[in-house]
Amino acid sequence: MSRPSLLQHPARFTCACLLLILTTASSVSGQAKFVANYDESKIPEYQLPNVLIDQQGHPIQTLKQWNQQRSDLLNIFAEQVYGKAPEACEISSKLISSSNDAVKGKAVRREVDVTFGGKVGSVTMRLLIYTPKNSVLSPAFLGLNFQGNHSVDPDPSISLNQNWMRNRQGITENNLADESSRGVAASRWPVEMIIDHGFSLVTIYYGDIDPDFDDEFENGIHGALKDEAKGIPAGEKWGSIAGWAYGLSRALDYLEKDSMVDGSRVAVFGHSRLGKTSLWAGASDERFKMVISNNSGCGGAALSRRAIGETVGRINTSFPHWFNDNYLKYNENENACPVDQHQLLALIAPRALYVASATADRWADPKGEFMSSVEADAVYRLLGTDGFGGTKAPEGMPEANQAINVGTIGYHLRDGKHDVTSYDWKQYLTFAKRNL
Ligand code: GCU
Repeated sequence: MSRPSLLQHPARFTCACLLLILTTASSVSGQAKFVANYDESKIPEYQLPNVLIDQQGHPIQTLKQWNQQRSDLLNIFAEQVYGKAPEACEISSKLISSSNDAVKGKAVRREVDVTFGGKVGSVTMRLLIYTPKNSVLSPAFLGLNFQGNHSVDPDPSISLNQNWMRNRQGITENNLADESSRGVAASRWPVEMIIDHGFSLVTIYYGDIDPDFDDEFENGIHGALKDEAKGIPAGEKWGSIAGWAYGLSRALDYLEKDSMVDGSRVAVFGHSRLGKTSLWAGASDERFKMVISNNSGCGGAALSRRAIGETVGRINTSFPHWFNDNYLKYNENENACPVDQHQLLALIAPRALYVASATADRWADPKGEFMSSVEADAVYRLLGTDGFGGTKAPEGMPEANQAINVGTIGYHLRDGKHDVTSYDWKQYLTFAKRNL
């Protein structure tokens, strides 16, 4: 995706200057300061597209009709929201390191480089794989991480990621990780608990696939597959979320051939922007057996039309590289978008889906995340699963820390802030035991 700069367009430049003068002193870079709404009574009026009404207005009652609806919706999400990715490309892999006594001797830990790309270039992502010792083809959680594989566990033998990294106060400076960032994200990755439950954990630094900044898509996977993406109309070209999801699919290509992990039982997991990514990966690649969205919010599990907390306009302004250019049309105009996020969740049916929110994560609109999961329930039931379990979808939002974890859709509202905690993982493990 390429967004011409204002300086290349004198007319737009003049307009932008005018806007800057006209807006108040509180404006930042020519844009009025965003004030999030958290008041339910101020939600703009909206109509949610019915997930069981097709594009021509007909009700969907059969599997055949749903299959058509699924393919139409998937196409709309690619065209209007996340962007279209090129076809899957070949991968190659190389074992970088292996240890037989990781996690107090309970696990085998490997680092595997998976390389893929196109005519112009390639990217290499490093998979950190923990597998329970003595297991044969174990089910796995696959998730991208924010701060490098070395942040997942303090173990000094995990290689230190040297790719571009977002700065985090007190952790990463000059966009480069150093030794002091080993294990900083360990609380989000309870490796021992995962191993004790008989699962493998596979994690990858998301910046290996595409660095998380707007460079007009020159670097990372977009640059490498530039040629292959040439035919995709400009407004529909893939954003970074679609790029990271593409990387997850290539990781799955590798896991399908791995001798220790069962590629047919992989749960794709992600937090926040990476939760948005796991949802899009799970929707666009049906090989993922289970999908987990942890606090994914706007552009993830939350209904965009509620416009509570973060909005489409705000996310497109702060992170212009995450979605495609067509998505800009829905800034402050969510109702005009032909899809909303409950339909994204429905694309995962009948496979297992878990959505998690946190009480203090109002920016991600916990209620909107719950409502979209409830809306998706109808599709799960149409496809012969028990959806949320019981005879019908839950009506009211559960209390904090009261997980709904008995069906094919799971949900909880955890007490606390935007984060991944052991409470979250306990629910995912229970859910995965039943559903993987
Ligand atoms: C920002 C952004 C969210 C995103 C989050 C994250 O807060 O507004 O949409 O989920 O970053 O990924 O950490």
